[in-house]
Amino acid sequence: MQPPPVRDTVVETRGLTKRYRGGRPAVADLDLSVPRGSVFGFLGPNGSGKTTTIRMLLGLIEPSGGGVRMLGEPMPDAARRVLPRVGALIEGPALYGFLSGRDNLARFDAADPTADPRTRAARVGRALERVGLTAAAGKRARTYSLGMKQRLGLAAALLQPRDLLVLDEPTNGLDPQGMREIRALVRELADDGTTVFLSSHLLDEVEQVCTHAAVMARGRLLTQGPVAELAAGAHGRLVVTTPDSADAVRVLKEWGVTDLTVDGDRVTGEVPTVDPPDPADLNAALVRSGVRVRAFGTERVSLEDAFVALTGEGFDVAG
Ligand SMILES: Nc1ncnc2c1ncn2[C@@H]1O[C@H](COP(=O)(O)OP(=O)(O)O)[C@@H](O)[C@H]1O
Ligand SMILES: [Mg+2]
Repeated sequence: MQPPPVRDTVVETRGLTKRYRGGRPAVADLDLSVPRGSVFGFLGPNGSGKTTTIRMLLGLIEPSGGGVRMLGEPMPDAARRVLPRVGALIEGPALYGFLSGRDNLARFDAADPTADPRTRAARVGRALERVGLTAAAGKRARTYSLGMKQRLGLAAALLQPRDLLVLDEPTNGLDPQGMREIRALVRELADDGTTVFLSSHLLDEVEQVCTHAAVMARGRLLTQGPVAELAAGAHGRLVVTTPDSADAVRVLKEWGVTDLTVDGDRVTGEVPTVDPPDPADLNAALVRSGVRVRAFGTERVSLEDAFVALTGEGFDVAG
């Protein structure tokens, strides 16, 4: 997905910090920049400070330090002007199980003082339509699957037109089909021009749906930017497939390739980052030395590789 042109920044934090009692801060000195029109993945393992950050963004908890601007205005001072333009889904949505999906939405709508009761039914109908719950709208919410409940929560966030949607782990606990549905919905919303800020502990999810991402670990920001650039920051390993692996290793060493490993007919290694050789020259050198090259290339680099490169450790997806 191509990132849209950046016109301005819808979420901006400066030095944002939250300290609960004792221990290291849950969020430390966080500078986030979320471009308008992006699908922004706020990525990090469990406990890395995502929900704490989102609560501060929405003015639900007070920062210990630093500041937040949303839609260009300072939070929480401008909350009354800003929050009506922001839809949010944090943790599981609070639903009445004995009410139908439609009636749950009507209750959410009634709780909004700016919502005209005369147009409520139409708004609720549109929101149900949007998340694909029209057919199930008359059923009690307690009969809904987790994915349907999550979509109903999203529908509540979509009752009014929003400039920004903030979704805290919207696919948590969903089966693969439910996750696909939420991802498709996020894409649709983004296509309509809504900026979507979503947290996730799933790397591949962020890669699939997000144009931009910020990566958190232990309350600290590791990196942020367009997803394509984050992945490019970690260069892929060189992979040469050849029956002449010993000769290949010798030649590649001469060209400065390090960390060479051989696995059958597969030779991999790290190409120097400073003054890297042209792959075409490398390939030609192998062939010149009599190495029969069956395949030559670099491994695709994922956000996970970038994460490992940044932290020197794997991405903990436990829990
Ligand atoms: N209300 C709280 N009181 C004390 N510690 C908390 C509270 N909420 C979160 N934490 C701690 O702050 C850290 C970040 O938590 P959280 O923001 O929930 O991370 P994430 O959403 O990325 O899983 C964790 O170490 C967590 O235990
Ligand atoms: Mg969380």
